[in-house]
Amino acid sequence: MNHTQLERAAEFVARHLSQAPRVFIVLGSGLSGLAARVEDAKEVHYADLPGFPPPGVAGHQGRFVGGTLEGVPVLLQAGRYHFYEGHEPSLVVAPVRLASILGVQAAFFTNAAGGLREDLPPGSLMLLRDHLNLQGRNPLVGAVEPGEARFPDMTEAYDRRLRGVAVEVAKKAGIPLKEGVYAAVLGPSYETPAEIQMLRTLGADVVGMSTVPEVVTARTRGLRVLACSVVTNWAAGISGQPLAHQEVLDEGRKATAALEALVRGVLREGFVAPKQQ
Ligand code: HPA
Repeated sequence: MNHTQLERAAEFVARHLSQAPRVFIVLGSGLSGLAARVEDAKEVHYADLPGFPPPGVAGHQGRFVGGTLEGVPVLLQAGRYHFYEGHEPSLVVAPVRLASILGVQAAFFTNAAGGLREDLPPGSLMLLRDHLNLQGRNPLVGAVEPGEARFPDMTEAYDRRLRGVAVEVAKKAGIPLKEGVYAAVLGPSYETPAEIQMLRTLGADVVGMSTVPEVVTARTRGLRVLACSVVTNWAAGISGQPLAHQEVLDEGRKATAALEALVRGVLREGFVAPKQQ
């Protein structure tokens, strides 16, 4: 994905939305239910955008949905690009750059992840407090994109204020919400039990194959970031059961209601909606 393609794609999406989005929301595997809840929804399919190939994984669609949620103008991404598909880093993070070009100030990432901690069984929601980048690559390698820094700070990649809002919203709504560290691995094979032991030693609470490249890119562009994992399975070797992608999709769908309530609450409390005319 080169800069010209990105700018053209951003212009195309902007032309199809009724208003500029303020918050970018990325939907993980099996979590695309929220896209159907957007009001005044305008959809743009990847097929209509220069440089956006169809995403290859079952359960991932390829489209942006613009509109409002809780009165806040949002842009949703359903269908992610992952390194494990063989995509270039510039494509994996193109949707974040596109959203940033459209003017979003914050990004809320969701993902499916395996749980390493005893109190993170399948079905749990975990807010990311920090991450471990174990993918062996960084999306910012190479020329510095306009509006990005060479050496961006990652001390507080996950916005403290927004995390506080999420915790309050969850408390009020009775949604159990944990906090922890997300380890991003390359995939696509799931981990071995020995690798999961290693990740525990390193301080990981959940493991997944996405989000970190997007968070790094969002931060270098000055976006405030919030991210939440849906634990879809016990990480390898913890339950003794083999891991299956279908289980990941099914558990993701089951958690949709809680995640939706969390996202809505954060939009309502964390981003004061413009007054209705
Ligand atoms: N490992 C890596 N990625 C994942 C997992 C897992 O156990 N579950 C969902 N995404």
